[in-house]
Amino acid sequence: MKSLLGTLYLWGLLIPGGLGYNRSLAQHRQEVVDKTVSARRSLETYSYNKYHTMEEIYWWMSQISEAYPEVVTQHFLGMTYEARSMYYLKISQPSNNPKKIIWMDCGIHAREWIAPAFCQWFVKEILQNYKDNSRISGFLRNLDFYVLPVLNIDGYIYTWTTDRLWRKSRSSHNNGTCFGSDLNRNFNVSWCSIGASRNCQDLTFCGTGPVSEPETKAVSSFVESKKDNILCFLTMHSYGQLILTPYGYTQNKSSNHEELIQVGQKAANALKAKYGTNYRVGSSADILYSTSGSSRDWARDIGIPFSFTFELRDNGTFGFILPETQVQPTCEETMEAVLSILDDVHAKYWPSSSTRKVSSVALVLSLLLPFTCLL
Ligand SMILES: *[C@@H]1O[C@H](CO)[C@@H](O)[C@H](O)[C@H]1NC(C)=O
Ligand SMILES: *[C@@H]1O[C@H](CO)[C@@H](O)[C@H](O)[C@H]1NC(C)=O
Ligand SMILES: *[C@@H]1O[C@H](CO)[C@@H](O)[C@H](O)[C@H]1NC(C)=O
Ligand SMILES: *[C@@H]1O[C@H](CO)[C@@H](O)[C@H](O)[C@H]1NC(C)=O
Ligand SMILES: *[C@@H]1O[C@H](CO)[C@@H](O)[C@H](O)[C@H]1NC(C)=O
Ligand SMILES: [Zn+2]
Repeated sequence: MKSLLGTLYLWGLLIPGGLGYNRSLAQHRQEVVDKTVSARRSLETYSYNKYHTMEEIYWWMSQISEAYPEVVTQHFLGMTYEARSMYYLKISQPSNNPKKIIWMDCGIHAREWIAPAFCQWFVKEILQNYKDNSRISGFLRNLDFYVLPVLNIDGYIYTWTTDRLWRKSRSSHNNGTCFGSDLNRNFNVSWCSIGASRNCQDLTFCGTGPVSEPETKAVSSFVESKKDNILCFLTMHSYGQLILTPYGYTQNKSSNHEELIQVGQKAANALKAKYGTNYRVGSSADILYSTSGSSRDWARDIGIPFSFTFELRDNGTFGFILPETQVQPTCEETMEAVLSILDDVHAKYWPSSSTRKVSSVALVLSLLLPFTCLL
């Protein structure tokens, strides 16, 4: 089908006016193809094994959407406090199927550099494999991925220019005497009730009110507008090697707590199988600390069924300053965990596609068993 279309398309280019293509349309198509080819070529030298400046990540976002125009598009989400544009990437295969959404954001905390590195890795993996990998192409039949590679752009830039351990945004408070809100305490869920501070000097300053920060507002408005279609909300942090479920603002459990723990534990097992890294799974209040106003809790409470925070490597040896040599293994193992979650979410809402998988496993087993019995 595809190569047939490609052949017809080439004939359209060779015969101006043929097959309904006039010269300007053909030229336009050719320009798109040229752009795609040159974007793919320039991405070949982009390293996913290192940390990138915000400038490089902006460049990467535009290149990746030019290189894969049939599946990736870049969309404006909002402006940061310092008036920078926030973009998310939408990975979606054209289809008439009604689809559901997986949300992933990285870098809400500025110093957690491994998180934006993972968002880029995730996008790269999906794009490099969606054609040939049946697991990933299966997801894309029913799911769109919305990826926000760096949520706290102002803070991220500040960690590159001024203070590597900066955590918050860069909004100005008290007449410019202190800076930054903890964006992950600023969501409208039990706002500033516990594990957050009203003092703008503090690391966990919750802002001047729920959703007082433009970055939080941008994410909240967008996610709220799509919430009926979002099945899974993933927010990537470091460090501590944890998969956290709701809630942080209470010891109470969400209505599907047991399911979330099961899905999370399976993801942790898949992660461990790669390089042996141990993760713990539990609610934030149970295994980390209490937090109010987090995006994970907020997402769960507006009705998104699966909501997890990842705390990536390491377990305190290097902390936020995770060496670049660990970017690749961290991303590889985290990818296994995220794919495991996607398996479970996908199987729950599209049981027929997973039945097919089970039955093919059963078929392979039935073929193998007679032989294994002989050994
Ligand atoms: C060429 O195609 C474009 C797009 O379909 C159309 O807008 C334009 O009028 C056409 N030009 C000629 C000369 O046919
Ligand atoms: C902030 O500055 C303005 C004018 O510079 C002043 O009137 C006001 O009292 C200051 N507020 C605080 C909280 O210091
Ligand atoms: C926060 O949520 C409450 C409902 O729980 C709503 O009444 C209020 O308007 C929301 N505030 C903002 C700033 O969105
Ligand atoms: C926790 O659950 C109890 C019992 O259902 C309820 O009274 C309480 O309000 C809940 N706490 C929070 C913070 O939601
Ligand atoms: C991480 O380190 C802490 C403190 O040494 C330890 O209690 C915890 O079990 C470790 N976690 C994992 C998953 O290895
Ligand atoms: Zn964090």
